[in-house]
Amino acid sequence: MRPPVESLLVRGIKLLVTNRPEQGFGALGVLRDVDLVVENGSVAWIGPTGTGPGADKILDASGRCVIPGFVDSHTHLVFAGDRVEEFRARMAGEPYSEGGILSTVAATRSASGAELAETAARLAREAEIQGTTTLETKSGYGLTVKDEARCLEVAAATVEEVTFLGAHVVAPEYRGRDEEYVSLVTGAMLDACAPRAGWCDVFCEKGAFGVDAAREILRAAAARGLGLRVHANQLSFGPGVRLAVEMGAASADHCTHLDGSDIDALAGSQTVATLLPGAEFSTRSPYPDARRLLDSGVMVALATDCNPGTSYTTSMPFVIALAVREMHMTPDEALFAATAGGARALRRDELGALEPGSRGDLVVLDAPEPAHLAYRPGVDLVASVVRAGRLIYSRQAASKWGTRTKVPSNVDAP
Ligand code: NIG
Ligand code: FE
Repeated sequence: MRPPVESLLVRGIKLLVTNRPEQGFGALGVLRDVDLVVENGSVAWIGPTGTGPGADKILDASGRCVIPGFVDSHTHLVFAGDRVEEFRARMAGEPYSEGGILSTVAATRSASGAELAETAARLAREAEIQGTTTLETKSGYGLTVKDEARCLEVAAATVEEVTFLGAHVVAPEYRGRDEEYVSLVTGAMLDACAPRAGWCDVFCEKGAFGVDAAREILRAAAARGLGLRVHANQLSFGPGVRLAVEMGAASADHCTHLDGSDIDALAGSQTVATLLPGAEFSTRSPYPDARRLLDSGVMVALATDCNPGTSYTTSMPFVIALAVREMHMTPDEALFAATAGGARALRRDELGALEPGSRGDLVVLDAPEPAHLAYRPGVDLVASVVRAGRLIYSRQAASKWGTRTKVPSNVDAP
């Protein structure tokens, strides 16, 4: 016997963003006055309101707009402690330095696995209720074989996409012995971590890893079957972005300091430029030149970079508002980058769009159109969140049961 089909009808959508220009109007492929059906986790049907098949459950969008769930393709959720004092000092004029990472490394090493799991789960839930349906997260605050491996275990229990970042900075006990640390990362650490991750990332920056060490680590990871990503050109001009392109990385992340050759390299590649304006906001730094990237034809993603040092936010709506106000992206470009752009950065094209065959990940917004995400900064517009056809958050249900509670399965609200 075939298992029963689980289906959800999202009814009365005033405006639907498909992110597929061929499906509707403009770059976001907008459709108006439609219903959408998700079957067994994937979008099965989209058509005029009231004309579709029935479903086991109904989510009434009641004239609101619906967008694909946000794909947050760059976070660091596995850590202990916070760095509010560092933030306070920065806001009083101190500069950011990558050295701050080591205080989180110390706190993370002394935390229990249960504490790390609890923090990561709390942050992942915080992201979900703001519309994020896919999260990537990294290790990088352990920096020993044992601590990196346990951070990846926490990551894998919490999110869908897991990245090994043993090459975040040189571990403090290897200070002055960088080459030995690189050998550890490419040897015993990679042995322990490769089976627990899908991706490998390297922080290629002065004060972290130079281009030769970064290349060696990325090559070793690729040989173990990991996909590649690079923290590149965050704090200064340098070779990180070009290395990401050379290595065929899925994304070069930050891209804050770019010259013409970096832009040309990205434009001729499949490497996504992932911009993380929460980091510039929270370190009071100049923002990346998103306009130049977009106008050169580079695929751009937006992500939160959630971490306790440079960007302690899980909010993709906040990142969209920053991208529009501070980086001169249009509201449509920012929404696309936060959804389809993130999906491309993770090489998951079934995510970040809503067309037949896409995973049924969507957000019902309490707004007539999605530009309100930037137009109404700081306002919670998320009415409900659906992942793979299952309601995972409903503001209406949360007002009864609380945001931490998963919505009971017999609830069709709102
Ligand atoms: O993406 N740049 C490297 N890693 C983080 C910062 C980590 C920290 O300061 O704890 C980032 O900004
Ligand atoms: Fe980061």
